[in-house]
Amino acid sequence: MNKLIAVALMILCLAGSGIIATAMEKGSETVIFEKGRMPQVQFPHHMHQEKLENECSTCHDLFPMQDGIIKEMIGQGKLKNQQVMNEKCLFCHKDRKKQGLAAGPTSCTACHVRAN
Ligand code: HEC
Ligand code: HEC
Ligand code: HEC
Repeated sequence: MNKLIAVALMILCLAGSGIIATAMEKGSETVIFEKGRMPQVQFPHHMHQEKLENECSTCHDLFPMQDGIIKEMIGQGKLKNQQVMNEKCLFCHKDRKKQGLAAGPTSCTACHVRAN
């Protein structure tokens, strides 16, 4: 009997941690890139995950899944300023537009939007 309860508890714990882990691993719904010379960018992270059919490596081959890592890598000289913007955001949006597919913005002020 005790053994059964222990097994049941273990399954519950595993299931519970699984659910929490999935929610965490997806990261933030929206990522904010703080304003610099240009106004801030609000990046709809989960929306991209869905539209790109959960191909995480499309972006995360350039930087790991870690909050604030782009800024950190720019500081360490591992990424150039605007490299993610040019090689990921703009590259994909322009490429899809050329192919006649739905795409995100390609003009500066459509992405860099002044916060109210
Ligand atoms: C279109 C690009 C893109 C795709 C695709 C993408 N991510 Fe991200 N992800 C980002 C950016 C940008 C950040 C923010 C990094 C930073 O803060 O410097 C990020 C950060 C994260 C973080 C760190 C926490 C956070 O939200 O800041 C996690 C976890 C994460 N992503 C998980 C995933 C998973 C899982 C997938 C696939 C299902 C995925 N990402 C797909 C761009 C992307
Ligand atoms: C698709 C969205 C998008 C578009 C369009 C875009 N940017 Fe960006 N931009 C970003 C993101 C995301 C970052 C932060 C990541 C990085 O540095 O690669 C950034 C960073 C920057 C930075 C460095 C941070 C700062 O504010 O000083 C500058 C400068 C910049 N962009 C200028 C421009 C200019 C000029 C254009 C138009 C030619 C433009 N951006 C178009 C998304 C965009
Ligand atoms: C591999 C392709 C790809 C990459 C990389 C990518 N995007 Fe997008 N983006 C899309 C697609 C697809 C859409 C949605 C088009 C639609 O269905 O309306 C989109 C839409 C958007 C929108 C509009 C959201 C809305 O509510 O209309 C913004 C803003 C945006 N992207 C910003 C970014 C930024 C910032 C980055 C880089 C950190 C980025 N994207 C990287 C493919 C990409």
